[in-house]
Amino acid sequence: MSSEPITVLHNRRIILGVTGSIAIYKAVDLASKLTQAGALVDVIMTASAQRFVAPLTFASVTGRPVYTTMWATDAGALPTHIAHVGLGEGADLLVIAPITAHTIARLAHGLADDLLAVTALAARCPVLIAPAMDGGMYAHPATQDNLATLRARGVIVIEPEEGRFASGLIGKGRLPETHTLMGHIRRALGRGGALAGQRVIVTAGGTREPLDPVRVLANRSSGKQGYALAQAALDAGADVTLISTVSVLPVPVGATFVVVETAAQMLDAVLQHLSGADALLMAAAVADYRPSAVAAHKLKKTDQTAKTRTLTLVRTPDILSEVRDQRARTGWPRVVVGFAAESEDLLRNAQEKLQRKGLDLIVANDITAPDAGFAVDTNRVTLLDAQGGVEPLELASKARVAEQVIARVARLLEKRG
Ligand code: C5P
Repeated sequence: MSSEPITVLHNRRIILGVTGSIAIYKAVDLASKLTQAGALVDVIMTASAQRFVAPLTFASVTGRPVYTTMWATDAGALPTHIAHVGLGEGADLLVIAPITAHTIARLAHGLADDLLAVTALAARCPVLIAPAMDGGMYAHPATQDNLATLRARGVIVIEPEEGRFASGLIGKGRLPETHTLMGHIRRALGRGGALAGQRVIVTAGGTREPLDPVRVLANRSSGKQGYALAQAALDAGADVTLISTVSVLPVPVGATFVVVETAAQMLDAVLQHLSGADALLMAAAVADYRPSAVAAHKLKKTDQTAKTRTLTLVRTPDILSEVRDQRARTGWPRVVVGFAAESEDLLRNAQEKLQRKGLDLIVANDITAPDAGFAVDTNRVTLLDAQGGVEPLELASKARVAEQVIARVARLLEKRG
């Protein structure tokens, strides 16, 4: 994982409450990753949390004091006489991960018997909780009723996962991994962003066109830029549908995920999700041709002496052209962004595609540069818009490139009103 700051987390004040669950070891990693991403993480530990992990562990990964008590004269207390509101004030988010059945109950009943409970009562920022406990405790009506009470008050509850507990039992109650927790935190912080209330569709990855049951015609697209666009749209508060041929990358938390393989399947999926969509970003590398027929059985070497074999290819549908036609009828999507991966005449080719495919913006990508294009984590692109604007972006991570493209999409949507 790169330690580049994550914009939606950078300089945000996050209070991380931790309670007495063995899953607390994952909270140490979460505190570390949030800090690496640029967040300012203040950890509050309950008394039982300190039986599992020392405050020093969290202080070491966050580089900030850890709070363990509300009694001002004790070590680990807040350096203020207004301990009960001091921490919550100005915080962007309160995350309690892991939260035990006991602390869920304390919050549901408004108890204020330690610094974490007091902070949760006093905080005016969004509250995110990630339950972690034995499956029976989680499923118990007492816990479920308390969670329903908290949800009704606007608390965001991260569903625990199914799996094996420390006890050896299997059930639902495991704390999700750091990547998932971070995704929920990003989503909570991104609410109200530049794309709040907007529906965005992103396509990602290279299509695969089958030749026989074993072989496909594919391309080198990794899907990384598309996934980064989906994440950047989520960080900006959008409702995101990610239509992807790739299933090995972690799906950004909060995205509706649709897996497809061929250009025809991608067209179907795009058209199916198009109505009411505000923006479409076609980052996928869609095959222009597919084998004219898919053999029912694996193709054999028919003639052992033949040096060549000819494949007949036929055109696949051009998804953006179909979208252009549909948009002309319905007005949706309001903004369409295409991508041009070129190995020669980059800007001229991109300009031509922008016009032919009726795009608002095209992201031109020189795939011959070693630090740009397929598979690598960085990209060097130029943005061309329908008004003739040409903006070369600096070499940057795909995450940064995605943020800039999403910022342009937000501006375009704003102009359209
Ligand atoms: O024509 P070309 O494939 O180079 O155009 C690239 C842009 O068009 C990309 O945004 C790609 O996702 C989209 N495309 C498409 N349908 C195709 C081929 C490409 O929508 N069959």
